[in-house]
Amino acid sequence: RDDEAQADFDALIAAEQRIEPRDWMPDAYRKTLIRQISQHAHSEIIGMQPEGNWITRAPSLKRKAILMAKVQDEAGHGLYLYSAAQTLGITRDEMTQQLIDGKAKYSSIFNYPTPTWADMGAIGWLVDGAAICNQVPLCRASYGPYGRAMVRVCKEESFHQRQGFEILLTLMQGTPAQREMAQDAVNRWYWPSLMMFGPPDDASPNSAQSMAWKIKRFSNDELRQRFVGMLVPQAEILGVTLPDPELRWDQDAQRWHMSEIDWTEFFEVLAGRGPMNAVRLQNRRSAHDDGAWVREAAAAYADKHAFPRSL
Ligand code: 3HC
Repeated sequence: RDDEAQADFDALIAAEQRIEPRDWMPDAYRKTLIRQISQHAHSEIIGMQPEGNWITRAPSLKRKAILMAKVQDEAGHGLYLYSAAQTLGITRDEMTQQLIDGKAKYSSIFNYPTPTWADMGAIGWLVDGAAICNQVPLCRASYGPYGRAMVRVCKEESFHQRQGFEILLTLMQGTPAQREMAQDAVNRWYWPSLMMFGPPDDASPNSAQSMAWKIKRFSNDELRQRFVGMLVPQAEILGVTLPDPELRWDQDAQRWHMSEIDWTEFFEVLAGRGPMNAVRLQNRRSAHDDGAWVREAAAAYADKHAFPRSL
């Protein structure tokens, strides 16, 4: 029977059909999806912190309203993604516990500080830009609930990316100090944004299987190349310099030639030793503890309404 179920699963994948929650799926496929979707959800939730840092200090009412909307979108993406992961048989409580225990991964990018307003621009342009590049192909992921969630997420990311670009454009048209602040933010976020795509292909243990299952559609390096190709003309319009003296189009190899990424830094951040790892996790833990009374009250309310007194 299992062979038959496996054959049906393989046929669905080969035919570019979607796997749905009630379909049979190999255990390893389920585990990979729980791993990727929960990490993605945690990234959205932790990702609210670097920008949340600027909500009270945004330079105008309009900027503040936009930033609040963006941070709220990220909360929404996190909740969508937790729901998608729940369809695979893990609970939201289990995922939250893994995060606050420091056992779950989330994107390396959110472990860097946001010291200036220009960071809001650089995050929108570079971080959300990288997220779009990575996530548009995920709209075609073979697992239905994940692929469908990605469609709305990507539309919202696209607004986030444009608002970041527009913040940088405004700063670049401002005073010399504002231009310097924008360039400094780009210098600090450029390399970490390239690291978002994950380790190089020859050091990416999950890629081959995830691509065979059509969860991932492109390799980490392919997406990184595509992202740099998107950035180069946009940097020209902004008037900022991408901080890589080696960056050039290699006509013969038909790819962007770039300096070696500092993979030691990447693995240090993954190991919990990035500049802001401890702060991000501590904030998440405190928020969870502070919210205990809300969870208790909601559970008590649900209990009361599940069994009306008249029964
Ligand atoms: N940060 C943290 N961990 C990373 C990472 C990164 N930038 N890149 C890779 N890793 C981890 C992987 O999770 C994996 O760890 P695990 O096996 O313990 O789970 C390990 O490093 C090896 O990497 P692989 O390339 O083998 O892993 P994947 O095949 O899963 O590829 C990925 C990594 C490209 C990040 C893929 O998981 C993916 O596309 N995930 C969905 C997108 C996502 O999570 N994005 C979060 C970024 S930001 C965001 O969405 C918020 C937005 O508002 C900006």
